[in-house]
Amino acid sequence: MTISPDKIEQDKIDKAGAVLRAGGLVILPTETVYGLGANALDEAAAARIYAAKGRPSDNPLSVHIADFDEIYRIAAEVPPEAERLAARFWPGPLTIVLPKSDRIPRAVSGGLDTVAVRMPAHPVARAVIRAAGVPIAAPSANRSGRPSPTRIDHVRQEMDGRVDLMLDGGDCDVGVESSVVTLVTDPPRLLRPGGVPLEALREVLPGIVLDRAVTGRMDESDRASAPGMKYRHYAPRAPMTLYEGQRAAAEMARACRGALAEGERVGVLCFAGEEPLFPGAYVRVLGRGDAPDMQAHQLFDLLRDMDAVGVARILTHAPDRAGLGLAVYNRMLKAAGHQVIHTEE
Ligand code: TXA
Ligand code: MG
Repeated sequence: MTISPDKIEQDKIDKAGAVLRAGGLVILPTETVYGLGANALDEAAAARIYAAKGRPSDNPLSVHIADFDEIYRIAAEVPPEAERLAARFWPGPLTIVLPKSDRIPRAVSGGLDTVAVRMPAHPVARAVIRAAGVPIAAPSANRSGRPSPTRIDHVRQEMDGRVDLMLDGGDCDVGVESSVVTLVTDPPRLLRPGGVPLEALREVLPGIVLDRAVTGRMDESDRASAPGMKYRHYAPRAPMTLYEGQRAAAEMARACRGALAEGERVGVLCFAGEEPLFPGAYVRVLGRGDAPDMQAHQLFDLLRDMDAVGVARILTHAPDRAGLGLAVYNRMLKAAGHQVIHTEE
């Protein structure tokens, strides 16, 4: 059912809360991407999330709260850094990993003794969590391995018939998921770049380091022994190649001509102004090269669009890594299974 963030109808919220309390699955809009929500204190409900997503059970779920004080019941320890991060970025697109309390079942935390906590900013998400009266596990509402859904029709493509209730709150604002920071390691570590830029996190946590997996890439010998597929996430169906460096657009244009000459259907994700370089290809614009927020907002929708059109390969211009660009870069890297071409002279 549709629900407007500007004019929240309490009867719909109450219904969603009741479904969650009863162990059901509810699709929720958040400011980042759509979530697949269930009672985070209920092992059976968590198991239903893993089944609906086709998600490996060792990949932990994050737990969503509507009020800060809930964190003391979910985490066994709340260091001052967590309070400072929350004061600055919550509610908002930040997830904080902390030692978990006994209330969170191991089925939710993927067998780990830590828990990832997030307080979303979206008014519908917060109202539903409050109405449920329990913390809500809410991974992105995609089938495992697919791009996260930023519009309700993305959710329908994969979750129709697998959930008890869908709340359609319109398109998600940010378009990539929350930033995930762990405070369990010293120094703190950014595990997943997302809606809160690294530069902003550094203002609160000057010592924060990037986890290797964020921009980690395989070298040539790795690629030979572990060809791409194993590492693909957020993945469109067609193979994707990422171009970075000064000559990226020119090299994409060359690859595009080559593939078209072979009779291939080519999809291109480029920046505004580059479209004329790719005559004959299916071209979509991520946004301006210097507008990472727009690129983030569009990325997953455009990856799905490439699938819908049925291109045989996708050529993509890698963004600058400033601001939300780091999250866009990271998602592209995974979507491309680390197929990157560097064009620095
Ligand atoms: O923006 C978001 O965070 C969205 C919306 C729906 O809230 N949710 C989301 O959930 O992206 P999910 O499950 O797709 O991603 C949560 C990430 C995963 O990469 C997971 O591996 C990581 O957080 N994570 C969860 N618990 C963790 C833990 N205890 N330690 C380390 N990483 C954890
Ligand atoms: Mg996800």
